[in-house]
Amino acid sequence: MHQINIGMIGGGTVGSGVFHHLQNNGALMESRLGLKLSLPKIAVKSLDKSRAYNIPKSLMTTDWASVVNDPNIHLIIELVGGTTLAKTMVVSALKLGKPVITANKALISAHGEELFALAQRYGTNLYYEASVAGGIPIIKVLREGFAGNRITHMYGIVNGTCNYILTRMKHEGSDFQPTLQDAQKLGYAEADPTLDVDGFDAAHKIGILASLAHGFWVKPGQIHVEGIRPVTKTDIEFANKLGYTIKLLGIVKLIEGATSARKSKSVNRKSIQVSVCPTLVPNTHVLASVNQVFNAVFVRGDAVGDTLFYGRGAGKDATASAVLSDVADAALDLKYGLKQRVAPFVAFEKNGVVLPVDEMVSRYYLRLSVMDRPGTLAKVSAILAASKIGISSVIQPEGHEGDTVPLILMMHTAPYAAMKKALVKISKLPVVKTAPVMFRVENFE
Ligand code: HSE
Repeated sequence: MHQINIGMIGGGTVGSGVFHHLQNNGALMESRLGLKLSLPKIAVKSLDKSRAYNIPKSLMTTDWASVVNDPNIHLIIELVGGTTLAKTMVVSALKLGKPVITANKALISAHGEELFALAQRYGTNLYYEASVAGGIPIIKVLREGFAGNRITHMYGIVNGTCNYILTRMKHEGSDFQPTLQDAQKLGYAEADPTLDVDGFDAAHKIGILASLAHGFWVKPGQIHVEGIRPVTKTDIEFANKLGYTIKLLGIVKLIEGATSARKSKSVNRKSIQVSVCPTLVPNTHVLASVNQVFNAVFVRGDAVGDTLFYGRGAGKDATASAVLSDVADAALDLKYGLKQRVAPFVAFEKNGVVLPVDEMVSRYYLRLSVMDRPGTLAKVSAILAASKIGISSVIQPEGHEGDTVPLILMMHTAPYAAMKKALVKISKLPVVKTAPVMFRVENFE
């Protein structure tokens, strides 16, 4: 029987999960695939580190190159993370014509195109199911399941750390900083939480999904990103009064007739919005109920309609599940000699552009801290009216103590550029005491 020997680089949380689940389910996978799977070599940083699941010392080495270069190893799994050494490892394996499986969203997001081209040049493949939304098989869904669809909308809750923090803030009425600190203590947030709470991890994942769905590579710098640090318990409370829940939402929308596309010299530009921002989601929408560390990706295709994929987006078990699905694909491809049965990425859209943030149209939630004086609301609404931005509702809670009161305004749709200009004027009003806070509102139309 055909045997595939796997070399893994990385024996941390996900790596030890892959080892454990391959031990548990390897025989099942072998009967499903009709081949033998073996994991004889694992490169790790330290042999003595304690692991989520134990790995026998006899399988480990600290020399990653000896794993990649071993002629008996057919398939490499990279679970190191980062974009420097991990890139060297992946490039070395691909240049040897060995297929690579990675869970590394930062690497794929930043260097995907280059690595896919390299895989093609060396007659091999690069698999990355685990790079987006952990255990949810969303890469397969977009690449294979929805191959017959034009994807018009995608909405993703793809960062478990942010979702955990926002869920606790809502349920406990707590503020961002103490909730983050507690999440760090409990191991739900990293000691340096920047990548997660400032939205970059979600942007890597949303960029990968946008690229796959729309056929041109969206670079991390083209994505408008706002994190969850500005969200306060007051915002969560008022959003809830208005019937909304605040989520860190990645949005990918096909935009018909965008100005930048029309102005472009070449005709028929295809514009997409790609953004990651704290967003008010109606409580009646299914994404408002995605809580704790769970991820969800909502996809609308012109044939299939609305679909939802829900599951754990991180962790040793769910991410291992995604890696093992790639092991199955890669092993079958090796068995049948199919170098790129399913290409990692197909650049089918030659005229794609990412919509500039100023052209993004949305509804907005605005929170101001103002002096409770006659005429305050009139001054604010005059600026918004002059900017042609309509107000759909206003709340100014009674019984507030102190010199200032919160003033919450919900807006009708407006381009971001108009909203930004109006905010500059509003923040200069003497009655407005602190910097305005603004979040998007999404109605999923
Ligand atoms: N840190 C990520 C999250 C998991 O919180 O969802 C890895 O991408």
